[in-house]
Amino acid sequence: MTQTPQQAPYTTNNAGVPVESDEHSLTVGRDGPILLHDHYLIEKMAQFNRERVPERVVHAKGAGAYGTFEVTNDVSQFTKAIVFQPGKRTDMLARFSTVAGEQGSPDTWRDPRGFALKFYTEVGNYDLVCNNTPIFFVRDTIKFQDFIRSQKRRPDNGLRDNDMQWDFWTLSPESAHMVTWLMGDRGIPKTYRNMNGYGSHTYMWNNVDGERFWIKYHFKTDQGIDFLTQEEADHLAGVDPDVHRRDLYEAIERGEHPSWTLYVQIMPFEDAADYRFNPFDLTKVWPHGDYPLIEVGRMTLNQNPDNYFIHIEQAAFEPSNLIPGVSVSPDKMLLGRIFSYPDTHRYRIGPNYAQLPPNRPHVPVHSYAKDGPMRFDPARVAAPYTPNSKGGPAVDPEQFDPAAGWASAGEMVRNAYTLHREDDDWGQPGTMVRQVLDDAARDRLVSNVSGHLKQGVSRPVLDRALQYWRNIDKEIGDRIAHSVDRS
Ligand code: NDP
Ligand code: HEM
Repeated sequence: MTQTPQQAPYTTNNAGVPVESDEHSLTVGRDGPILLHDHYLIEKMAQFNRERVPERVVHAKGAGAYGTFEVTNDVSQFTKAIVFQPGKRTDMLARFSTVAGEQGSPDTWRDPRGFALKFYTEVGNYDLVCNNTPIFFVRDTIKFQDFIRSQKRRPDNGLRDNDMQWDFWTLSPESAHMVTWLMGDRGIPKTYRNMNGYGSHTYMWNNVDGERFWIKYHFKTDQGIDFLTQEEADHLAGVDPDVHRRDLYEAIERGEHPSWTLYVQIMPFEDAADYRFNPFDLTKVWPHGDYPLIEVGRMTLNQNPDNYFIHIEQAAFEPSNLIPGVSVSPDKMLLGRIFSYPDTHRYRIGPNYAQLPPNRPHVPVHSYAKDGPMRFDPARVAAPYTPNSKGGPAVDPEQFDPAAGWASAGEMVRNAYTLHREDDDWGQPGTMVRQVLDDAARDRLVSNVSGHLKQGVSRPVLDRALQYWRNIDKEIGDRIAHSVDRS
């Protein structure tokens, strides 16, 4: 709508002073040089040059919305976490994303999807930074950086390179379960609304009586699982690269609020020691038959952000945001992530990222943290140090919860997890191929893998890749080899 001069406010510069022109720079005569003291022109150029923050080093392309989480089942015997108490409703933010692609990359590339959640609870923010996969490519934090570099671009020509991806995967057999998952139908969801979210890691819950449980989170889509074939995805990448961002936004605008039902698997604390798999290994699931799903609640996304940059680009999720009743486990990936996220936020957004609208807790902050770039909310404490006798906040030693950890002792080592009876890299992906996929899904798996291998994967990496698939399942490996050789 065009506004009349009476309705529209005057344009001002950033200091609030009315602006003379948005069309003509200040010059000496008609053809003269532009004057440096045209402060408004300089302000426009300088501001523009600083409009971007660095994109996320992973999960750069995404979409998000605000919503509510409501508890539908009583799980208070397992956790005292306020967000999971009977009848509780909690405001939240969700951001979905691809992993390897950059800001402008197509939403439909084959890739895991991020599923990051922030719950604004009465005891501060609780973040659950999930993926749409129950597993991951590696099981030790020290391999994450190498893994990601193998998925991103080559330093010499700036291109993504399937050879590099299969080189890493085949030299890291623990990736087999996740690669099988990725190359299957769920590797390209139809929309963000049609995928599940999984906490993936094992976390710990503890209750008011100090009892501990190991748990896994499963957010199951109420819209139903759906996927794109490789051909559909390739087409959409060209005609509508933002299709998933658009779908989420438009569904919420239409009032079709997507929802997910949260279930948990719960393992008694003592079971972990001699469970048949290492229960903290991120490349493994806990079979449903061993630990069935227990309903907890439902999250519904019902509000689009009114400014994408402020609410989604500057959103900072961090697995280190934990509240009483939820804690970490010995999973080495999870423990590494606890450091990584706040560190990258300080670099990407700045040290005061926690003050920004999507990150600000919905409870008062009484922290002694102060100053730094872009600080706008003063530390609300009586003195800039602690302890003080000026009435400043003091810590509450009662908050230390011995039931939120586990006993650990021993020599310092660098080694793989101790082997449980059935720990191996090929068993669970083999089960997926043979027992979870049907014939049509297996056909698509063969086609997806061989199509990928035909694009730039050369010997000896190709030979290793074929053996890798035969290790997962002899028949599927033979079929992939046949398909690749025929090309
Ligand atoms: P179940 O038969 O109980 O579970 C199989 C699960 O596989 C389904 O519940 C579904 O997970 C998931 N699934 C179905 N189709 C696909 C697909 N195309 N790609 C990826 N996942 C799919 O058996 P188990 O629990 O014993 O697990 C057997 C295998 O299933 C595992 O080795 C693992 O590969 C896979 N799986 C297991 C999950 C778990 O947490 N137990 C989760 C996902 C996969 P959902 O119900 O979450 O949609
Ligand atoms: C984003 C590190 C594993 C889910 C990120 C970011 C980093 C990172 C640095 C960018 C964050 C930002 O700039 O805002 C790591 C490390 C991992 C790891 C070091 C392993 C040791 C995982 C796993 C999951 C996961 C296992 C899921 C279970 C996500 C999600 C995002 C993300 C969803 C995007 C968050 C958002 O939407 O802003 N990760 N990651 N990551 N990671 Fe991880």
